Amino acid sequence: MKRSLLYLTIITALICSACTSHKPKYVIGVSQCSEDIWRDWQNSEMMLESTLHDGVELRFTTARDNSKRQILQIDSLVESGIQLLIVAPNQLASVTPAINRAFDKGIPVIVFERKTDSPKYTAFVSADNYEIGHIMGNYVAMRLQGKGRVMEILGLKGSSPSEERHKGFTDALKNSGIEIVATLQSDWTEEKGYEAVKNYTGNLEEIDLVFAHNDRSALGARRAFIAAHVEKLPLFCGIDGLPGKDGGIQMVRNRVLDASYIYPTRGDQLLQLALDILDGKPFQKETMLTSAIVTSENADVLMLESDEVMRQSQRMTRLKNKADEYIQQLGTQKTISIMAVILIFLLLTMIVGIYYYFLQHARISDERNKMEREKLDFYTQVSHELRTPLTLIQGPLEELTETKEAKNASSETKALYLILRRNTNLLINLINKMLDVQATGSLDVLTTGNQETVMAPTTTNLPTASPKDDGQSNTILIVDDNADIRTLLRHILQDRYQVNEADDGQQGLHLANEIVPDLIVSDVMMPVMNGLEFCQRVKDNFVTSLIPVILLTARALSKHQVEGYESGADAYITKPFSSDVLLACIDNLLKNRMRLKDLFSSDEEKEVKEIPQPEEPIVEQQKKEDKFMIKFREFIERNMSDSDLGVESIGAELGLSRVQLYRKVKALTGQSPVELLRTARLHKARRLLQESGKSISEVAYEVGFTAPSYFTKCFKDEFGISPSDLNSQNRGGTA
Ligand code: FRU
Repeated sequence: MKRSLLYLTIITALICSACTSHKPKYVIGVSQCSEDIWRDWQNSEMMLESTLHDGVELRFTTARDNSKRQILQIDSLVESGIQLLIVAPNQLASVTPAINRAFDKGIPVIVFERKTDSPKYTAFVSADNYEIGHIMGNYVAMRLQGKGRVMEILGLKGSSPSEERHKGFTDALKNSGIEIVATLQSDWTEEKGYEAVKNYTGNLEEIDLVFAHNDRSALGARRAFIAAHVEKLPLFCGIDGLPGKDGGIQMVRNRVLDASYIYPTRGDQLLQLALDILDGKPFQKETMLTSAIVTSENADVLMLESDEVMRQSQRMTRLKNKADEYIQQLGTQKTISIMAVILIFLLLTMIVGIYYYFLQHARISDERNKMEREKLDFYTQVSHELRTPLTLIQGPLEELTETKEAKNASSETKALYLILRRNTNLLINLINKMLDVQATGSLDVLTTGNQETVMAPTTTNLPTASPKDDGQSNTILIVDDNADIRTLLRHILQDRYQVNEADDGQQGLHLANEIVPDLIVSDVMMPVMNGLEFCQRVKDNFVTSLIPVILLTARALSKHQVEGYESGADAYITKPFSSDVLLACIDNLLKNRMRLKDLFSSDEEKEVKEIPQPEEPIVEQQKKEDKFMIKFREFIERNMSDSDLGVESIGAELGLSRVQLYRKVKALTGQSPVELLRTARLHKARRLLQESGKSISEVAYEVGFTAPSYFTKCFKDEFGISPSDLNSQNRGGTA
């Protein structure tokens, strides 16, 4: 379980890291020379374009018009592991070493908008600054109609656009009639444009037009002219013509500037070129961007256009942000989904694992139980097989040792008898130990313990039978499939009881029903019908239900004894058995049957309920007996005056044949039904004589006697006093 949780944690961590870290495919460094709205605009174009491509990371730096700073920034970009460098060098020569270093390291370099003095670059993208300067010169000549004085404000010294624009401008105005009265140095910023004009020592009033190399410088110069309170403001021209609020186009439209030139940013085009280079696609090494001049004539249109461009670009930015949001959500959902799937998979694996573990466990314990059962069955079988022949050795041996011959035998013969007895007992002990193995599941008992305590010694005294009185003695039915055992039992019992035999349960059942014996001694393991079923069926049959059953068996385990008692047995004796114990057991059970013999004897003992209850196992049995006897007594009491009342009609009432009734009543009371009937009649007669005042004849007829003389005889036999004596005693007593 712990291991599964560990795996789960590791896998989850891996998934999370995989889901959250997006390793870019391309890292592109962008080194800007300045920080202004033209550069900002260009950077945002590059950013927007990059979102259309998977796995592109842009790293921007800005040198803020400082070449040294730009060198450091380029070096650190290279160091950070960029795969391509886009660079606008602050100045033509000063930044070149850093660019060369990057190039020499195999990093492709795109130089844009400003030039370098080295051939070490991969591609160059720019508008033609000479041409821009030239176009602006021509415009100025046309605007001033070939006459007038112009002030030129340069860009940063040493930067290629400034030099080229200046050249183009001056070339265009050559021979135009226009005079360039001042060429002031600036550095592209509004402040420097302002300062340049402010510091100008010439006459500002004579300037007709100021051409600044960019719009911001033009704005600065204009502020300086206004600050100088010139009478008539000159015209101001610039370059950049940016869209949007306060951009060059709007300034021309608002007449702040007279004209500008749209200096193309094209950040999107730049990034596309960079990706083409990185993807190894064909590309153009030198790209010249073309553009257009902004004047009061086209400013409105261009303004509309530029507004639309701005709107679209803002929309695209919003779209991009939305897309980013969705992608992030999607990423989170993806992570959660993957984690859920893995979690479910792990849980399922765990469940299946646990299921199989328990299945395996159950199978192993099933097999173990089966083996245990088989072992137990084996021991039971073996012990049974051994106990029976041992019984047959031990019994006769005991008997032999008690014979006159044995007692008078020589000491050697006696010693031989002793050896035989000792070894028989040893064998019995061994079997008992084997049975203990079955009970405890441990083989230790075979090697430990005192042999003498395992087996109680059998009693050697066979009963010296008092001769049985045929017709009076009890009948015992022996049920056993082993003829030797039957012979032994017969031998033990025949002097005291009438003995009948049956081979198996079925035969036993038949015989029991027929002869209704006083007691049954039965084996348990028998063919056709075993002793347990036999016993149960004896107890379930109304005719035989009251016959005590002794199970005599080799099955010595307590659970077998429980089975025996559950089948209704009255006693359970294990083989080898002691003949004394068996006889005592039979005697006791038969005595118990006799406890109802005084059923009709006296008023005090008449109540069946008052008969003392025997021990537990025969409580159920006794209920049956009580019921039977109550029925018997009630029927007799109701019909007593009927002198024809006999065993047939009583048997018919109770659902028994004449013989069955006789046996059953005899077994329970020790008297025959006829004797019981007579006893009942006499006892009632005695009550009547004592209480009713009737004559002897009247009483005799009332209790079912047909002849008063016979009644008198029986009465005297029963009570030792004649009815007339009792009658006169009563009269005297009452007189
Ligand atoms: C922007 C800028 C523009 C100018 C260009 C020259 O940084 O100063 O105003 O046109 O650079 O390189």
